[in-house]
Amino acid sequence: MSIAQAARLILEGGLVAFPTETVYGLGGDATNERAVAAIFEAKGRPQFNPLISHVLDAGEARRLVRWNETADKLAAQFWPGPLTLVLPRAKDSPIALLATAGLDTVAVRAPAHALAQALIRAVGRPLAAPSANRSGAVSPTRAEHVAESLGDRVKMILDGGSCAVGLESTVLDLTAATPTLLRPGGVTREAIEAVIGPIALSDAIPSGNAARKSPGQLESHYAPARPVRLGAITIAADEGLLAFGRDVPAGARVTLNLSPGGELAEAAANLFAMLRALDRPDIGRIAVMPIPETGLGLAINDRLRRAAADDGTGRRR
Ligand code: TXA
Ligand code: MG
Repeated sequence: MSIAQAARLILEGGLVAFPTETVYGLGGDATNERAVAAIFEAKGRPQFNPLISHVLDAGEARRLVRWNETADKLAAQFWPGPLTLVLPRAKDSPIALLATAGLDTVAVRAPAHALAQALIRAVGRPLAAPSANRSGAVSPTRAEHVAESLGDRVKMILDGGSCAVGLESTVLDLTAATPTLLRPGGVTREAIEAVIGPIALSDAIPSGNAARKSPGQLESHYAPARPVRLGAITIAADEGLLAFGRDVPAGARVTLNLSPGGELAEAAANLFAMLRALDRPDIGRIAVMPIPETGLGLAINDRLRRAAADDGTGRRR
């Protein structure tokens, strides 16, 4: 499938799944209300959760949002890359209203993947793209995952192999007085603070123990069909183990190690593919070893807590 064909499909209002450095996106013309509506429909998103508009660079972003100095500093440091900036909608912003779910802000990001960039360039418009999975399911980091999750709901999938980062972008709200982390992701809090100073954590982001005490308050998301148990030190015989580091307990039915050397970037890149691989019928539950809450660990643990959260529907989806 060529980029030119994909671009034509998108300009006609169609959808194309494409790789980014974080996860695969389900892309449509961000300026076309009907294309954006088709994205929500294909994902089965229960409510209209706003979408990220993908651009090539800060120059393009400036036409969509009211850019500011903080955005300038962050883009200079992290774009293209896994950082999404939420800014006020520009007065003549061409972004479809549905893409921002009626908010007066727009989320913009410049992905660091040659295929994503080629597609944006060929379309000549910003691309609205959520992760290319059914709503609530584990995000896709390979083209096969997209096909498994969306099936014939997506006509074309550009195959770029495995996603290097493996976790979605960090979402940072720059409309508040203090920049606020709405979703931890591929750019760490520490790296952002090194550029713009202290940022705030959104209330929605659970921290450490509080989260483990009240998993019911968490939005269930990124969820495999099988239950997920966090902080596993010992293992039951019917469990599949998602391990981290060298000291791996014995006794699991099957063990996959996110990073035998204990490296968080490697663990992030493996996280979603390994969660999928352990989500199989002969396993009763997925047990996950503790992962440090620093650097990329913040985003990894965020996804794992949501994967472990009970969605109140018996978890099978
Ligand atoms: O890495 C990524 O961000 C991937 C790739 C494809 O770029 N995309 C992705 O999209 O993860 P999605 O739709 O799964 O997540 C977008 C997140 C959601 O949490 C959404 O609520 C938030 O960004 N968001 C989008 N627009 C927003 C806005 N105007 N204000 C606040 N949050 C916004
Ligand atoms: Mg998603």
